[in-house]
Amino acid sequence: MKRVAILISGTGSNMVALLRSMTGDHPARPVLVLASDRAAPGLARAAELGVATAAVDRRGHGSRAGFEAALLRELEAARPDILCLAGFMCVLSEAFVARFAGRILNIHPSLLPKYPGLHTHARALAAGDSEAGCTVHLVTAELDAGPVLGQRRVPVLAGDTEETLAARVLEAEHDLYPEVLRRFAA
Ligand code: GRF
Repeated sequence: MKRVAILISGTGSNMVALLRSMTGDHPARPVLVLASDRAAPGLARAAELGVATAAVDRRGHGSRAGFEAALLRELEAARPDILCLAGFMCVLSEAFVARFAGRILNIHPSLLPKYPGLHTHARALAAGDSEAGCTVHLVTAELDAGPVLGQRRVPVLAGDTEETLAARVLEAEHDLYPEVLRRFAA
């Protein structure tokens, strides 16, 4: 059984989708939900689902090195085999990524390599794209650039706003991330 830690910064809807998927014959189980913000709404949702939670406030740590050392203390106690970044809004250092090389997954709301970084839906709309989507990829030292493990496409519809497109993509994310994690853990 693989041990999974999920790192979040906010709502945690992808985290909930991952937690709900890890039952029955699934080859992994959640051991920790770790937030970069003590006020992240996802923490309460994880606790309701019976999963251990911890928070390492990014704002409480001046340097990234100090923040990552605190993250590592939590992770070392939970001994995860796999880290899932799920709306985790902090860029991890090369040293941190190396510590879990090949074992960190991230979900990104675009069809990578298109639109790494922020504001993906606004950029897809501005470009007049006819489709959008999401990507689960392995995390490497370069932002949103690691090997792709899976993608889901959704149409861009006439009259879409950033919000309507984001909602359609998010629904696809909830489907894609559990599917990729199951395959990856197996
Ligand atoms: C998702 O769109 C994810 O792809 C992006 O941030 C959003 C997080 O949503 N990185 P949630 O916290 O999982 O609800």
